[in-house]
Amino acid sequence: MQPITNKLLAWYDDHHRILPWRITPRDHKSGIVANPYRIWLSEIMLQQTTVEAVKPYFLSFIRKWPAVTDLAAASQDDVMRVWAGLGYYSRARNLKKCADIVAADFGGQFPADLARLKSLPGIGDYTAAAIASIAFGLPVAVVDGNVERVITRLYALSTPLPVAKPEIRQLMQVLTPGERPGDFAQAMMDLGATICTPKRPACVICPINGHCEALKTTDPEFFPVKAPK
Ligand code: ADE
Repeated sequence: MQPITNKLLAWYDDHHRILPWRITPRDHKSGIVANPYRIWLSEIMLQQTTVEAVKPYFLSFIRKWPAVTDLAAASQDDVMRVWAGLGYYSRARNLKKCADIVAADFGGQFPADLARLKSLPGIGDYTAAAIASIAFGLPVAVVDGNVERVITRLYALSTPLPVAKPEIRQLMQVLTPGERPGDFAQAMMDLGATICTPKRPACVICPINGHCEALKTTDPEFFPVKAPK
């Protein structure tokens, strides 16, 4: 395992955010992985909405529809009513379509591979990778905006976004461990949300500050570099 990966997983064990969809964050030794339905639901909600705004909606959905088959049995109107206020309503329409397909065609079980996950409504590259990694423990690179910022700073990537995206994905893939890939992905997200922030990052308390090329050579705030308009 890469030293960066090892340090981030140790940091995650002590400092991960307590979020309702992370039901078994410390249970990696038992081999129990997170519930795919909860991970899917949370990732769809988190696509365009902040963690704080998602929390109460996630809990309402889970209480009303504890399994994907319950959501499949619900009416579209009911789903829209509980989603109301979260915005980007095409997500709620795709959520219901996806639940119907998982219930009808996959025996109520989310498929455990990237290609079939991506074939489902509302699941694109990012969401498929997040579910594969967090729910199924597959070592795929999960890259969101937080991860892009952390990686471009760690390696002081001067290539601007979005051109740097393939390079970022490759670097993330190299860091992603065979064991606990989902915890690692979420550690990167938490680091980006709480320490490696867009403005005034808290580099003095960063668990991987000794590896950060941007901190060593320039200023982490310069990254990610954006293409000139
Ligand atoms: N944003 C999107 N997915 C997330 C997750 N699993 N944990 C924290 N923030 C997220």
